[in-house]
Amino acid sequence: MNSPIKFLGLAASPRRNGNSTILLKEALRGAADAGADTELLLLNSYRYSGCLACDGCFKNGECVINDDMQVIYKKLLEADRLVLAAPIFSMGMCSQAKAMIDRSQRFWATKFILKKDVISDKAMRPQRKGIFISVAGSGHKKVFDGAIQVAKYFFLMLEAQFTGEYCYHEIDRKRDILNHPGILKDVYQAGHNLAGSTASLS
Ligand SMILES: Cc1cc2nc3c(=O)[nH]c(=O)nc-3n(C[C@H](O)[C@H](O)[C@H](O)COP(=O)(O)O)c2cc1C
Repeated sequence: MNSPIKFLGLAASPRRNGNSTILLKEALRGAADAGADTELLLLNSYRYSGCLACDGCFKNGECVINDDMQVIYKKLLEADRLVLAAPIFSMGMCSQAKAMIDRSQRFWATKFILKKDVISDKAMRPQRKGIFISVAGSGHKKVFDGAIQVAKYFFLMLEAQFTGEYCYHEIDRKRDILNHPGILKDVYQAGHNLAGSTASLS
């Protein structure tokens, strides 16, 4: 029997059903319609700290902090497709996303200090891929620049190929995004495409 692609959506906004989370849900709906097995993770309902820079992970690639990141790590490693949805706060990714990414230092240590694969069974799995979704209240030209660099770095640490960003200006108040059916359609399609025509693995 074929097993479906595991498609993980990471919703970083602390706003309940915020604009970026609505977009993420559309991407997941597209992926589910392509046959993927989807999961939505609301980061704000997990409790985890930032990285302590203790370098503990340099020894074995594990993080010594025993908090909810241990649950999130497992899901990050199991996913075949990853979508990070994070709004812009103070010209960068919101802190819920940034803290998770800083805590992914254990994957950086695995790759670049220990020189090991993060995904040890990668030969048996499809190429991992990821996209980034964001919204910002302003129309500032450079408002997404930093966040996109961080998202690319996150997927690099996770050994997932970065396949695109979906960033939208002038989306500010709660549910503003619902006034943009074209954007909702674009991210639905992005999720569908990311799950791919080969949504089932043989
Ligand atoms: C603490 C905070 C900081 C923000 N900083 C920025 C900013 O620097 N630039 C900007 O364009 N929008 C900024 N915004 C607006 C949000 O990006 C906007 O409201 C967005 O729609 C929130 O997305 P969400 O509904 O997914 O949480 C900020 C909002 C908050 C709450």
